[in-house]
Order: sequence, then C-alpha cells, then structure tokens
Amino acid sequence: MSETLQVSTSGGASHDLPITDGTIRATDLKKVPTAAGPLATYDPGFMNTAACRSAITFIDGDEGILEYRGYPIDQLAARASHLEVAYLLLYGELPTAAQLEGWEKQVNTHRLVHENVRDLIDAFRYDAHPMAKLMAGVASMQTFYPSSRRIDDPEARELNMIRLLGKIPTMAAWAYRHSIGRHFVYPNDELGYVDNFLAMLFQSQQRVYRADPRVSRALEVLFILHADHEQNCSTNAVRAVASAGNDVFTSAGAGIGALFGPLHGGANEAVLAMLRGIGSVDRVPEFIEGVKAGRAKLMGFGHRVYKNYDPRARIIKKACDDVFEVTGVNPLLSIAQELERIALEDEYFVTRRLYPNVDFYSGLIYEALRFPPEMFTVLFAVPRTAGWCAQWLEGVTDPEQKIMRPRQIYTGPRERDFVPMAQR
Ligand code: CMC
Repeated sequence: MSETLQVSTSGGASHDLPITDGTIRATDLKKVPTAAGPLATYDPGFMNTAACRSAITFIDGDEGILEYRGYPIDQLAARASHLEVAYLLLYGELPTAAQLEGWEKQVNTHRLVHENVRDLIDAFRYDAHPMAKLMAGVASMQTFYPSSRRIDDPEARELNMIRLLGKIPTMAAWAYRHSIGRHFVYPNDELGYVDNFLAMLFQSQQRVYRADPRVSRALEVLFILHADHEQNCSTNAVRAVASAGNDVFTSAGAGIGALFGPLHGGANEAVLAMLRGIGSVDRVPEFIEGVKAGRAKLMGFGHRVYKNYDPRARIIKKACDDVFEVTGVNPLLSIAQELERIALEDEYFVTRRLYPNVDFYSGLIYEALRFPPEMFTVLFAVPRTAGWCAQWLEGVTDPEQKIMRPRQIYTGPRERDFVPMAQR
C-alpha cells in the first residue's frame, strides 16, 4: 500500500495526501483546502522542494552516491568518453559503437560558430570575465538559429542541442584567447571533442598543438564528472527559463549566469584565491579558526545535497596525480590537503557534515594546466552543457511542467493612499 500523509485543518477536516516514491518523499500541499485558500510551502532556497520529476541523475547525498541514468559516476569516469556520457544523458541509454560514431560526427561537425559571434566576443573589453563572453555567445545563438524557438518540434530541438554541444567549446576557447590577446584558433576536424578544445585553447602560431594523452584523459574525466548534477542552481535556472517556453540557447545562457556565482560553479575559482591567500601550510590552522569564527568560508567545502564526501571530489583527487605527473605538483596541493585533513577532524565541520565538494581539487588541476582562475568556471560550463540540454529537453517535454512561478509571503505595507510630493 502506498504511503500517505494525513493533514488536519482547524475546521476539523482531515486529508490523506499521497506521498510519491522517488529520491525524496514529496506530496502536494496545494490539495489541502483551508479557509484562506490552498496550503503553500515556505521554502526559500528550495531546501525541501521538488520542482520536477526527473529520470536523468540520481544523488544520494547521505551515502555520497551519484549516478547518471543509473550508471555509477566512478564507472563512467573510468570507462566512458564525455560525448558518450552526453549521449547517455540526452537519450537515456549508452550508445552502441555505431551510434557513438554517428553522434561524435554529428556533434563535431557543428563546432564552427558564426563569424558574428567571433566579433561579439571580440567586442568585449580585454579584461572582461570569460563567463560573460560565454554567456553572451550562447544567448546570441538563438538569433542565428531561429528554428530553436520551435521547442515543440522534436527535430529542431535535437538539432539545436547538438549545435550547442558542438559550439560551446569553440566559444569557450575563444573567450579565453580573447583574454590573452591571441588569435582565435578554429576547430580541427581531425581531433576529438576534448583534444580539439585543448588545441583551440593552447595552439600557438607555429607549433601544432597535441595534448599529452594523460592531460587529455584527465580533462575528459573532469568533463564527465561535471556533466550533470540534477537540480542544482544553474540547472534550475535553465529549467525555469525553459518553462516560459524558451529555446535551449536562451535557457543555457541563463544557466551560465547562475553557474558564474561563487557559491556554485565560481567556487573553483574562489578555492584557488583562498589557497593563495593562505599561502603556506603553517597558516592553515589560523585560517580554519577564522572560518569557525565566521570570518571566511572554506570554499570547496559543503554541499546542499551531499552530507558525505562528494564522490566527484574523490575521483578528481586521483586525476590530480595523473596531471601532476605531466605538469609537476601544484605547490598549493599541500595547503589543500592540510585544510582537508584538519577540517575532516574538526567538530565544526564534522557536526555540520561539511566535506570537500567537486570544486575543492579541480582548480588545482586547472592551474597546473596553466589556466588562469577566470577560466575555471568556463571549464565547468562546457561539460555541464550536456546536462543542461538533457534537463531542458526533459522540462519542455514534460506534460506536468508548468511555467515556474513561485509564490511569496508578502511582508510589505498594504492599501496606503498616494502622498503628493509636497507632503512627503
Ligand atoms: N565553510 C564554512 N561553513 C560552512 C560552509 C563552508 N564552506 N558551508 C556551509 N557552512 C556552514 C554554514 O555556515 C551553516 O552553519 P550554521 O548552521 O552554523 O549557520 C551550515 O554549514 C549549513 O550551511 P548552509 O549555508 O545552510 O548550507 P547550504 O546548503 O545553504 O549551502 C553551499 C551549500 C554549497 C552553498 C555552502 O556549503 C557553501 O557556501 N560552500 C562553499 C562554496 C562552494 O564550495 N560551493 C560549491 C558547491 S558544489 C559545486 C557547485 O554547486 O557548483
């Protein structure tokens, strides 16, 4: 028998509400009538609200489990490619060899972007943050591909998601090249998704750039780990914008804006700034005391859902070793390890169940690969595009999805007569 929640109202009526099965137990309070209208929840930050049904990503925050379409993240990180995972997220199943070959070809033939987008990126000031350039580039794409607005047309939906997946590395690489004042490198058809991205970032005028396979695999793993994470802040932004009937480019543009924030994707950049600010291992205890006194946050720690070690952080820690074999060890690593060691034993962090999250170690890898910190969140946005597309598609094809429009608890004044200027 399915579980129900019994709710009694002051008039003496009682209501049995069904509790839906799923990763969190949820019910629909709207169905409880009261004298003042249906019951609403007050839940700022959506701490305890399920905004949709989804079959894409499963997280068990207590156990530290993450699965895409049922496949454990560690198996995907060890054995799949990023485009294979993107296919899985979008279509629900792992591709066969022939499907994967066709899919890679489809995505990779859409790498070129319109020259006007190049001009758009070029028009930014030299010191503009690359996330702003990426957001503008992605949001502009709907003007180049008007078919994207036909969100009820399955073919148009698919084509435009593929365009976005194909083009986002090009725009991301150009946003970076613009920052360092280098010429823009065009996609190379002979290279795979990740290798081509690296070449567009690091190709110099004379030498043909070929990524070290260990570096390229480490980035591929990072891409897989970042590909989706159910209803996080940016995915929620994508779904909210989509719920108004928007195309995938406009919706992903909003996602990039949300991801930019230091409490979300911007945390990897903030971790690096924090590690540099601490400066040396012997200053770690003092920094931890500052965190406990509320003077700073331990960036890269804590998560809304994980109350255990983030499974992605565990895999990234291992990828650090592979990358440092090529680049040499990032000297900030010892500070990060000491922070983690102390925090995991300290009562403040233990009682609040704060553990390292995905952003704690990823910045160390990116820095070792010589990315400036402003690029770290861009390196999060590129792979997250796969998840945004899958979540956008699920949202716009869900018959239960309505425009996302929360209620509020109004706390302001009521019914005041207008006061003429002379009497104020
Ligand atoms: N350092 C110190 N204290 C913390 C931290 C932290 N990083 N995170 C949470 N706390 C404390 C917080 O002060 C609160 O304490 P108290 O109960 O005494 O008021 C308690 O832990 C619960 O925190 P919360 O802010 O209510 O939790 P939340 O679910 O609203 O926030 C979070 C989650 C990720 C925004 C937060 O942990 C945080 O700001 N972490 C640092 C930023 C970060 O690393 N973000 C990346 C998140 S993972 C990847 C992504 O989403 O992009």
